Amino acid sequence: MLPEQPATLILRNFLILVAVSLSCVILFRASDFVRFLPRFQFSTSGPASSFPFNFSSAFDDLPPAGEGYRLEKVLKDAAMEDRTVIITAINEAWAAPNSVIDLFLESFKIGDQTRRLLNHLVIIALDQKAFARCLVIHTHCFSLVSDGIDFRREAYFMTPDYLKMMWKRIDFLRSVLDMGYNFVFTDANVMWFRDPFPKFYLDADFQIACDFFLGSSDDVHNRPNGGFNYVKSNNRSVEFYKFWYSSHETFPGYHDQDVLNIIKSHPFILDIGLKMKFLDTAYFGGLCEPSKDLNKVCTMHANCCFGLDSKLHDLRIMLQDWKQFISLPPSLKRSSNLYWKVPQNCSLSSLTYYESMIPRSTKDIEEGGQD
Ligand SMILES: *[C@@H]1O[C@H](CO)[C@@H](O)[C@H](O)[C@H]1NC(C)=O
Ligand SMILES: *[C@@H]1O[C@H](CO)[C@@H](O)[C@H](O)[C@H]1NC(C)=O
Ligand SMILES: *[C@@H]1O[C@H](CO)[C@@H](O)[C@H](O)[C@H]1NC(C)=O
Repeated sequence: MLPEQPATLILRNFLILVAVSLSCVILFRASDFVRFLPRFQFSTSGPASSFPFNFSSAFDDLPPAGEGYRLEKVLKDAAMEDRTVIITAINEAWAAPNSVIDLFLESFKIGDQTRRLLNHLVIIALDQKAFARCLVIHTHCFSLVSDGIDFRREAYFMTPDYLKMMWKRIDFLRSVLDMGYNFVFTDANVMWFRDPFPKFYLDADFQIACDFFLGSSDDVHNRPNGGFNYVKSNNRSVEFYKFWYSSHETFPGYHDQDVLNIIKSHPFILDIGLKMKFLDTAYFGGLCEPSKDLNKVCTMHANCCFGLDSKLHDLRIMLQDWKQFISLPPSLKRSSNLYWKVPQNCSLSSLTYYESMIPRSTKDIEEGGQD
């Protein structure tokens, strides 16, 4: 960790105090925090990459010989020549037929030369049913099943368990980097329409999609979304993931993405020399800020959306829009005014719905993913 001076310590303790108070506000005044902390609007709606799962039992002791070995094998089988893998994760709700994972895989098949990327996709299954379904629909599956625990029901949005789980993801991805694999982490509700690799920066260690892109890929004020990022395995990225993970103690009650927003300009990142880039929504869009040109779009994320039904509804329309676009003759593609017909059921006005729903039922949100 960083050397600490008394002043830093005092500041840190103060920040912890602030963070603890804030998290109380967040946990107990859910409806208020949406209004008082504007940046959380998009954390709850958007940035929160949806990762509705529980890693703890599988990863508390990673890498035990068995798990580590199995993971290594799956990664090796799926990796590209340069040791890059594409990673997503699903639970039962997302793995069900006609649910998120089917739309995700379909996007690769109807996308422009994206089908071959499926050879490099590793699906992390977080419960038995998700794993069973994965084996039916995909080649590279990794199971994090732990006896009879219902992941879907356990982790409610912004509760301590939910936060623990989000942080486990960071720790898991750190272990993938540690094993020497580069990865693209993608939420399964990110549709892949074009190969994103040509649009990645060659010299960046960590590049991440944004809910809102302000115009420059170096601007730390961009609003990153943890649901899509490309990370190269090297000492800088491993150190960065360790730092990010350890920051959950510095900022208790925040989730990984909020902490990323806090630490993204931390001097430590300069010290280790990590090169961070923010990806343009022109290529890596989402429902918060759709990619404006279907001739350019690589991926579209169902961020800024609550509830599984709304998400599925809008994702299906998004796939339809794409199919309509690719069926146009080339000349029309370039000139076409075709644009996304989404968001529809996913929209920021669903925040109102979210506010009114929180005390009643967190289950819907949790099943639908948190973005
Ligand atoms: C995750 O699994 C562990 C171990 O089985 C369990 O004790 C814990 O309560 C679960 N946590 C969450 C976030 O579901
Ligand atoms: C980190 O640096 C050391 C020494 O420079 C090197 O041997 C090692 O391979 C690097 N690790 C990674 C993950 O790049
Ligand atoms: C989508 O929104 C429409 C209009 O508000 C509503 O009738 C429909 O039930 C919604 N569909 C889903 C799947 O949420």
